[in-house]
Amino acid sequence: MTKPLLRSLAGETLPVPPVWMMRQAGRYLPEYKATRAQAGDFLSLCYNPDLATEVTLQPLRRFGFDAAILFADILLVPQALGADLWFVTGEGPRLSTITGPADFARLKGVDDIHDTLAPVYQTVRNLSGALPPEVALIGFAGAPWTVATYMIAGQGTPDQGPAHALKRDDPATFDALIDLLTKATIEYLSAQIEAGAEVVKLFDSWAGSLSGEDFARYAVAPTKTIIAELKTRHPGIPVIAFPRQAGDNYIGFHAATGADCVAVDDSVSAEWVARNVQPDGCVQGNLASHHMVTGGEAMVSEVRRIRDALSGGPHIFNLGHGITPDADPDNVALMIETLRGA
Ligand code: CP3
Repeated sequence: MTKPLLRSLAGETLPVPPVWMMRQAGRYLPEYKATRAQAGDFLSLCYNPDLATEVTLQPLRRFGFDAAILFADILLVPQALGADLWFVTGEGPRLSTITGPADFARLKGVDDIHDTLAPVYQTVRNLSGALPPEVALIGFAGAPWTVATYMIAGQGTPDQGPAHALKRDDPATFDALIDLLTKATIEYLSAQIEAGAEVVKLFDSWAGSLSGEDFARYAVAPTKTIIAELKTRHPGIPVIAFPRQAGDNYIGFHAATGADCVAVDDSVSAEWVARNVQPDGCVQGNLASHHMVTGGEAMVSEVRRIRDALSGGPHIFNLGHGITPDADPDNVALMIETLRGA
C-alpha cells in the first residue's frame, strides 16, 4: 500500500487528506527544546545526525503525521558555499553579506558543498530506515531567490530591499548568485534523494516580493530548472513548491515549473485555491498558524472548512506557514483528530 502522502502527490483524491506541519519539529515541543539544549545550539543540532534524527521523529511519536521533514535549515547551503552563518537568539540568522563581485568571488564552487552537508545526508539515511511504513520522508532546500535574499542582506529583512537593490544595481553579480544557488540546490537535493528522501520541497518564502517579469525570472525559472534536472536524474521524484504569498502567481505555477504540488499560504482562501490552483494538481495548505496558538471551536471549524473546500481534488493538509513557538501541542492533536474525524 502506497503511503498516503505519495498517493496525493501522484494526483489521487483521498477521503481524508494526509497531514504534516511546517516546522513540526520545533520550539513548541518541550522534547525539542531538551534535545536542542543537549546539542548546544541550533546549527550544532542541524549537523548532528543522531540528534537531528531524534528531533525529526519527535512530532511523529506524538501526533502520527503522514510525513517527516528532514531537520535542517535552508541556510546550510550558503554556509556550505563558504558564507559565515550564525544565529542570534531571539533575532534570527546572520550571514556574511554579498554586496558585489568581490564577495561573490570568495564563495566556493558547487562541487565543494558536500563536505559541509555530509551530516545532513547521514540524517536522511538514518530517517529512511527509522520511519513507520506509512510515513513519507520529505527533504528540502530553499529556493534560490529566498536564499539569495538572506545572503545579500546578511539577515532576514521585511521587504528584501538589499536583494532588490543588488538585482537593480549589479545584475551580473545577482544573476551569477541565482545561478550558483540553482546549481547547488540541484546537487544538494539530489544527494538527499540518493540518501532516501522520497519527496523534496522547495521553500520560496519571499516569492511574494517578486512581481511581473521578476517573478517569472527569479521564482519560476530557477524552480523549473531545479525540478527538470531532479526529475531527469531521479525519474518520478515528487516535488512540492512553495512560492509563499505568490497571490495570483499561484495560478499556473504547477504547469510553469513542473511541480507535482503547489503549497499555498493562508493569504489566499481554500475556496479560491480549489477554483484556481487545484485543477492543475495537488495543493498543500493552508490553515493559519495562529490557530495552533488559540485552538478551540474557531480552529475546529477552519480545519473542516479547508478540508471540505479542497475535498474535490488532491490535497495535503498543512499550515499556511510554520508553527510558532507559542503554539499549544494539544491544538495540534485536536487539528489532526478533527481532520480525520467529523
Ligand atoms: O519544518 C521543519 O520542521 C524542518 C526544519 C526546518 C527549519 N527551517 C528548522 C528551523 C525547515 C524546513 C526550515 C526552513 C527555513 N529556514 C525557511 C523557509 C520556511 C519559512 O519559515 O519561511 C527559512 C526562511 C529559514 C531560515 C531561518 N531558520 C530563520 C529565518 C530562522 C529564525 C526564525 C525562527 O523561527 O527562529 C531559522 C531558525 C530555525 N529553523 C528554527 C528551526 C526549528 C528555530 C531555531 C531554534 O531552535 O532556535
